[in-house]
Formats: sequence, C-alpha cells, structure tokens
Amino acid sequence: MNLQEAINKRRAFYSLVPATINKELIDELASAASLAPSCYNNQPWRFVFVYEPDRLSELKKALAKGNEWALKGSMIIAVLSKEKDDCVLKNRIYHQFDTGMATALLLLKATELGLVAHPIAGYDEPTVHEVCNIPDEYTVITLIIVGKKDDHTHDNLTDWQKQSDQQRPPRKPLDEFAFHNVFV
Ligand SMILES: Cc1cc2nc3c(=O)[nH]c(=O)nc-3n(C[C@H](O)[C@H](O)[C@H](O)COP(=O)(O)O)c2cc1C
Repeated sequence: MNLQEAINKRRAFYSLVPATINKELIDELASAASLAPSCYNNQPWRFVFVYEPDRLSELKKALAKGNEWALKGSMIIAVLSKEKDDCVLKNRIYHQFDTGMATALLLLKATELGLVAHPIAGYDEPTVHEVCNIPDEYTVITLIIVGKKDDHTHDNLTDWQKQSDQQRPPRKPLDEFAFHNVFV
C-alpha cells in the first residue's frame, strides 16, 4: 500500500470485530511512530498498548457515554506525553504536537496492516491513569481503539455513527484552511 492509499483508507470506523494482537504488531506500530519528527529529536511520545484481557476490560470502564462501540476493541493504545519532555518556546508548547505527529504515523501503519485504529477523546482520564499505572505528570492525549472493520454496520450504533461508517464525514474545502502566501 502506498502512502496516498493509506491516507485514503485510514478511517475512524465504528463497526469492529476482533483483531489479532501480538508483539510483532506492537513493535511495527511503535517503530512507525518512532520515525516522526520532534523538536530537538526529543521524542516525547509514550504509548501504553493494552491488550491483556483483564486489564483491557478494566480500561474499557473509562470509556465515555457514546463510545460503547469501543467495547469491541481488541487493543487500546493510551497516548501520553508531558510538557517537560519537549520544547517550550514562549507560547509554543510542543509535546502534544510532536506526539500527535507520531500518532498519525501509527494510525497510517495500522491502516497499512489492515487494522482500524480509531482515536478518541471521550474517556475518563483518571481511570486511564489508574488502570495503566501512568504517573500524574503525563497527559493522556487520546486512546486509540484497535480492531478490524466489520463488513456489516453494527445495529447498536447511533445514526451518526452508522452514517460515518458508510461515508467519511465531510472535510472543509481547501480554500477554508489552505492559504497562498498570506492568511486569507
Ligand atoms: C482527538 C480526537 C478525538 C476523537 N474523539 C472521538 C470520540 O470520543 N469518539 C468517537 O467516536 N470518535 C472520536 N474521534 C474520531 C473522529 O470523530 C473522526 O476522526 C472524524 O469524524 C473524522 O472521521 P475519519 O477519521 O473516519 O475521517 C476523535 C478523533 C480525534 C483525532
């Protein structure tokens, strides 16, 4: 799969079926993330790959209302970073930016491997800290729900989620966010 195909294929799908999780897969995902650029090569990103059944069940208790679809995930990746691990240049605070870039590469790698990797912000952060033994100074920026796409749209989804599985949510036209030479 070339890069453009992976960009096109990456989707935050809701209808998931189990995926096989093993060390080789986790190493491939982590390796892709590790090649992201970062300020001074600080590599502030941290990922906790949660797949052991008991801990995965505990972590799923952190899911917010509306994210029940994520109960079908075979693995949840907690994505974290802390400010002290990366550049702070006046009002520019880079740890979350750099971790976001690493996360994007991880999502594309998962796509290439035939997986769904769906990032979410809807979770109870203290529960994630507790279940994953994450020190307080780290911010849990996102959880990534990993599974395989089910060909059939699941019945228990909201109408919005069903629609999203059928068709990618629309994007802004380029001229709303891509400017030539000067802003607007
Ligand atoms: C930071 C972030 C938070 C998100 N939070 C949620 C969430 O809590 N629940 C959910 O179902 N999807 C969540 N999403 C997925 C987006 O809804 C999805 O990426 C967007 O609708 C575009 O769809 P696409 O990724 O399939 O192109 C989140 C995505 C990001 C990047």
